[in-house]
Amino acid sequence: MIEGFSRLSKSERRNSLVEHGVITPEQLQLLEAFDLQNENQAAIDHIAENTVANYYLPMGIVPNVYINGRHYWVPMVTEESSVIAAASYAAKFWSRLGGFRTNVKGTTKVGQIHFFWSGDASTIDPLWPELKDLLIKSSQYLSENMQKRGGGITDIEYSDLSHLIPRYHRIHVFFNTADAMGANYINSCLEAMAREIPGFMARHFHNDLSRCEINMAILSNYTPECMVECGVECRIEELETISGNLGYEKFAEKFSKAIAIASVDPYRAVTHNKGIYNGIDAVVLATGNDFRAVESCGHAYAARDGHYTSLSQCTVEDGIFQFSLQVPMAIGTVGGLTRAHPMAALAIEILGKPSAEELMQIAAAMGMANHFAAIRALVTTGIQKGHMKMHLSKILQHLQATPHETDEAMKYFASREVSYKAVADFLQNIRSKT
Ligand code: MEV
Repeated sequence: MIEGFSRLSKSERRNSLVEHGVITPEQLQLLEAFDLQNENQAAIDHIAENTVANYYLPMGIVPNVYINGRHYWVPMVTEESSVIAAASYAAKFWSRLGGFRTNVKGTTKVGQIHFFWSGDASTIDPLWPELKDLLIKSSQYLSENMQKRGGGITDIEYSDLSHLIPRYHRIHVFFNTADAMGANYINSCLEAMAREIPGFMARHFHNDLSRCEINMAILSNYTPECMVECGVECRIEELETISGNLGYEKFAEKFSKAIAIASVDPYRAVTHNKGIYNGIDAVVLATGNDFRAVESCGHAYAARDGHYTSLSQCTVEDGIFQFSLQVPMAIGTVGGLTRAHPMAALAIEILGKPSAEELMQIAAAMGMANHFAAIRALVTTGIQKGHMKMHLSKILQHLQATPHETDEAMKYFASREVSYKAVADFLQNIRSKT
């Protein structure tokens, strides 16, 4: 058992890894090589615990994003190659056709207090108005700042769920968190409220504190009322330039069938929706938001009717191609990591300091951009052609190809299978002739 690792300084932790044989002295140098030599290092160190190094991911920019007529340069952070290229391709294509149309349908977030009541279940209902009042008052001190920013608690609901689990009761608290994702605010309010409930019940029932047990108080990451929609639309002829060899009519037909397949087949729907989250997560991550919360919420929403389905829809009617998606998304532009991580703060500045609602729309648009590019590739050339082009340029970079060698290799491999050996042989062949 290792004791006290968290109490060591960062350099002591690193040395401890060497002493325990977890890393070699050479690997220690690699950890150190990724340090920043300025004050930003401290900001990064304090994000998580037991830190021993920085772990870098690239931030790329998608330059031609038009949303509701406004132009954005969108920062994206991802570990997957092709994602930023795909988003750029689709964003540029749609920018010539009016860009993305987006709309926020709601921003309500929800928190829950789960408790067990061993008295008569029906006794809580008549007391609910009084309890509700107490809960609002008990958390008022936490809501003051949020209320100044236009947020706060918007409603509270009580449910007797003792038919599902014996003695189980639940309170739902609804929040408007303005430009914050609001997790800390919500959880603090819920915990302050939860502390009041056993005492309140005891005051009404023989001062017996043992009858009411709080199980937990926590926000829900399922936010179907914090929803954004995004759409694009054009005449089908306008799809000609991106339809590969299919022609625009066949392309539009194949595209809409691909969306229909995802609406009936969960195996396909998961991959299909993953293509949407390629774009959404990259914006969520770049701006220091919680991508696990955004993803789990989106997937739960995709299964809201009892079977997992597509988050996007496509219609082709009267020569008009319409493609849209709806995703729930609880994200913010103040609080949390959005200011504490220097690169997240910069990403938000690059986006023009958007409100939370505007950031929801930007993330949804990038989800649509990635998704559109993925389906286009799948129903035309397949995705491997684009991936192989990326793979080729990485191999060429690794083998230190000159610009001339790179041009020649790109032409040669345009119609051939890419592998490390084939590229190395090709370069060796060229180099042996010069
Ligand atoms: C790969 O990261 C994403 C895709 O699989 C999405 C899709 O299949 O729609 C290409």
